[in-house]
Amino acid sequence: MAPHRSHTMGRFLQVASVVLAAVTLGAQAGTVVDPAVLDACPGYTASNVKSSGGTLTASLKLAGKACNVFGNDIPSLNLQVVYETADRIHVKFTDASAARYEVPESVLPRPSSAHPVSPQSAAIKFEYKTSPFSFSIVRSATSEVLFSTASHPIIFEPQYLRVKTVLPADANIYGLGEHTNSFRLDPNNSTLTLWSRDAYGVPNGTNLYSNHPIYFEQRTTGTHGVMLLSSNGMDIKLTPEALEYNVIGGVLDFYFLAGSQTDPTQVAKQYAEIVGTPAEVPYWSFGLHQCRFGYQNYIDVANVITNYSAAGIPLETMWTDIDYMDRRRIFTVDPQYFPLPRMQEIVAYLHAHNQQYILMTDPAVGYLPGQGYGPFDRGEEAGIWLKNQNGSDHLGLVWPGVTVWPDWFNNDTQAYWSNEYAMFFSADTGIDIDGSWNDMVEPSSFCNLPCDDPFEQAVEQDLPPARTSAPPSPSQPIFDESAVSRRNKRDNLLTPPYWINNAAPGGNLSSKTAYTDTVHANGLYEYDTHNLYGTMMSIATRQAMLARRPGNRTLIITRSTFAGAGAHVGKWLGDNFSDWPHYRNSISGVLGMATIYQIPMVGADICGYADDTTETLCARWAMLGAFYPFMRNASAHNADTSISQEFYRWPLTTEAAKNALDMRYRLLDYIYTAFHQANTDGTPVVSPMWFKYPKDKTTYPIDLQWFYGDSILVSPVTEENSTSVSIYLPKDIFYDFETFTPVQGKGEYVQLDDVSFTQIPVHIKGGAVLPLRNQSQMTTAELRKTDFELVVAPGTDGSASGTLYVDDGIHIDQPAQTLVSMTFRHGTLSVSGSFDFATGVNVAGVKVLGSTRAPRGVLLNGKPVPQSHVQYNATTKVASVTVGLPFTHGFTLTVL
Ligand SMILES: *[C@@H]1O[C@H](CO)[C@@H](O)[C@H](O)[C@H]1NC(C)=O
Ligand SMILES: *[C@@H]1O[C@H](CO)[C@@H](O)[C@H](O)[C@H]1NC(C)=O
Ligand SMILES: *[C@@H]1O[C@H](CO)[C@@H](O)[C@H](O)[C@H]1NC(C)=O
Ligand SMILES: *[C@@H]1O[C@H](CO)[C@@H](O)[C@H](O)[C@H]1NC(C)=O
Ligand SMILES: *[C@@H]1O[C@H](CO)[C@@H](O)[C@H](O)[C@H]1NC(C)=O
Ligand SMILES: *[C@@H]1O[C@H](CO)[C@@H](O)[C@H](O)[C@H]1NC(C)=O
Ligand SMILES: *[C@@H]1O[C@H](CO)[C@@H](O)[C@H](O)[C@H]1NC(C)=O
Ligand SMILES: *[C@@H]1O[C@H](CO)[C@@H](O)[C@H](O)[C@H]1NC(C)=O
Ligand SMILES: *[C@@H]1O[C@H](CO)[C@@H](O)[C@H](O)[C@H]1NC(C)=O
Repeated sequence: MAPHRSHTMGRFLQVASVVLAAVTLGAQAGTVVDPAVLDACPGYTASNVKSSGGTLTASLKLAGKACNVFGNDIPSLNLQVVYETADRIHVKFTDASAARYEVPESVLPRPSSAHPVSPQSAAIKFEYKTSPFSFSIVRSATSEVLFSTASHPIIFEPQYLRVKTVLPADANIYGLGEHTNSFRLDPNNSTLTLWSRDAYGVPNGTNLYSNHPIYFEQRTTGTHGVMLLSSNGMDIKLTPEALEYNVIGGVLDFYFLAGSQTDPTQVAKQYAEIVGTPAEVPYWSFGLHQCRFGYQNYIDVANVITNYSAAGIPLETMWTDIDYMDRRRIFTVDPQYFPLPRMQEIVAYLHAHNQQYILMTDPAVGYLPGQGYGPFDRGEEAGIWLKNQNGSDHLGLVWPGVTVWPDWFNNDTQAYWSNEYAMFFSADTGIDIDGSWNDMVEPSSFCNLPCDDPFEQAVEQDLPPARTSAPPSPSQPIFDESAVSRRNKRDNLLTPPYWINNAAPGGNLSSKTAYTDTVHANGLYEYDTHNLYGTMMSIATRQAMLARRPGNRTLIITRSTFAGAGAHVGKWLGDNFSDWPHYRNSISGVLGMATIYQIPMVGADICGYADDTTETLCARWAMLGAFYPFMRNASAHNADTSISQEFYRWPLTTEAAKNALDMRYRLLDYIYTAFHQANTDGTPVVSPMWFKYPKDKTTYPIDLQWFYGDSILVSPVTEENSTSVSIYLPKDIFYDFETFTPVQGKGEYVQLDDVSFTQIPVHIKGGAVLPLRNQSQMTTAELRKTDFELVVAPGTDGSASGTLYVDDGIHIDQPAQTLVSMTFRHGTLSVSGSFDFATGVNVAGVKVLGSTRAPRGVLLNGKPVPQSHVQYNATTKVASVTVGLPFTHGFTLTVL
């Protein structure tokens, strides 16, 4: 959702220059330091090294005169190294004399380190030198150095930690998001800043909403991964042959992942062992979603639903932005524009047509004491708001005006949140939503620094009126002793000496968000936990949604995520623009989330959120977006910033959307199976080309083509007005998805011409058996009643394989599952597995692609198939067999 219109540069600059008496919240750009100064720091010397089995501990003492660059060097550190699995080494540096902040286990539970493996059996090794101390991670099989601090001392100060590793020249580094950089990061000159930010317009080269301190490095000799488990603000810099972490708090907590010498998928799975595999979502989640900020009233919403139906475009889920709320207060409806009975009618209509409804819920709660606003009163009563250090509620400025924020670390917040969801979204008396959308979760605030009078700023910014002099709540003590005793004496929580390169106005950590000196119920500061806020809301929302419909899966889409968020929610890529750069960079955005960060339920706002889209951009984007795992058309205001852009608005876009949805829906069980696999072991649902061709260097920088599932290669047109595209096809056999004609890849770029505005080039990678539904439908419920068609696309060796997973698409625990394996070898397709979930449909037919001649006959379970059931197309080289078997057991089919 768009920021408020006061987001103007003029105001930022004006406010940024104001200086507070007590604390300076002025403007400052990211800190730049001479690398020579940092490299002159003394580093540490290791002593008392104890090594036993897969565990090593050591004491580190400062090795010389402290350099005190951004505070005093911490004199002694503890090092602990654990070979947690054969593929994962955990390396952790802590302050030997004081506890420091670490990401709480309640937010990200750690994998077990209770059963270390022997270094001899590990795929990577930890090697070290004692004086000056340095360490490397080395691949056992090749002795290749994957990570090494040898040339650069470790710096460990209260609010500044630095680790710098050498890299190969022109290294292939991916991850460290969220950002809009190319998928392969520029290894010579990149700064990645991790600090959650309401990054309107999703600009280039700045910190964005989410924080994922993990990278994968690809070499022709293998793929490995490195995670720095920290939620503190940080800059990660890539300079020629080096990668440098600059972190403003916490500890140094590294996980090194061996990955694999041959299969990049392994590193993704190993990362999933740390952060968890993605949550499964309902089957309907993969249908088309429609959303906009600016639907005027319930009639508008109802018209969109029926207009989609009239246009024959399969709308699966309708969404409504904050427009439905009464004065933009969460858990309310506007009694005139979106009255409850009408909202209930919309839900009933959607449900009766096998469609779903999703509403937005922001975290900020209107600060409205004594005004009968239940969500505020109940939260105040429970005492669950994020607090200033003196124990008073921390006030922000969001859509309803002055607000408070739920403190997800408070033990009573989950009960509060679940109760609000249960009441407002009650199936009986409220709005019976099917999924939830969380926005402004960074947490985002409209308050300009210094935010000492949010009431005044609410008036200036015309945010829905709130009382300007609020009476203190009787339940709130003047002095909260426990809060006073927690008052920070340790750090400068507002303006640390090292400034990360935060792009928020003025660069201040607290700019446009909650102050970083606010304190959580468990004593943690927002300074350390800011990057977790959105993810913690995700966890709470998921619990609240699961409590509403016990046992059922749900769909939750949020904006700000941290490592591990995918185990709870999905993510949209934020408030983009309707332009071609955002169309293009959405692909690397999706790859980052889905391939690296384990958040596969991801997509960008199709046709663009802000500004006006065009018929051809929207047509191209409908087709590109059909191959995002999460497909949602979404835009901003009618009046303010954007024209209407539902797919039915233009003939070209209608046709493009229908064509793309036809492909998407036929492939729905294929991607659902991929999602189930991801939930099982972290196998990415979409991946870059180099995942499938790791030895082919040409694929390393490609981020305008990608694999949807294991074997669908998507290669959209990427330039405005163009009807051609140059696509890379590795040395392999592919099949055009439209006609199933074979296309031999030569390890070269190929120019495709005459790609109309309603077409997107899609290829099947040879070696796959695809379980397609044989006809698209208007809803996923109808789709589930449609027969399958198995498409065999043999690889260069003539064989192919695939899997199909089917369940009821609704429940978390599935008592009956159908899991089918399909293999094709020497002309025989063997289908076998468990068929416990009754699909109720048939295998209508089988197509064998790349058949060089007409079949001489076909045997089904060893018996000849009538010749009338076999067809051969010599132009496309497709042999088609009508099967018509109920999909309740396996079979074999041999093409002679
Ligand atoms: C990085 O610098 C190296 C050495 O100058 C150069 O070969 C390489 O092409 C550069 N990489 C990129 C992505 O610009
Ligand atoms: C490095 O990137 C920055 C920011 O994008 C840019 O301003 C600068 O010119 C680049 N430096 C070089 C040497 O390319
Ligand atoms: C729905 O379609 C009708 C008829 O074309 C049109 O007048 C109306 O503006 C459309 N409304 C919406 C919200 O799409
Ligand atoms: C508590 O701290 C906040 C934020 O620093 C300040 O605005 C407020 O006046 C303080 N309240 C009391 C009672 O000191
Ligand atoms: C919150 O719950 C945790 C875990 O049960 C407990 O350790 C902690 O003491 C509780 N905090 C408060 C303030 O009650
Ligand atoms: C789960 O979803 C199904 C299908 O929508 C519905 O019939 C059922 O009532 C839901 N279960 C609960 C507990 O709400
Ligand atoms: C972002 O950077 C890319 C690549 O450098 C460029 O093509 C694009 O125009 C930029 N986008 C914006 C919105 O500036
Ligand atoms: C694309 O075509 C439109 C309409 O003819 C034109 O306005 C626009 O400038 C063209 N864009 C480019 C990049 O050529
Ligand atoms: C072969 O397939 C192509 C592409 O689908 C189609 O246009 C053509 O009509 C088919 N030929 C026969 C003989 O069915």
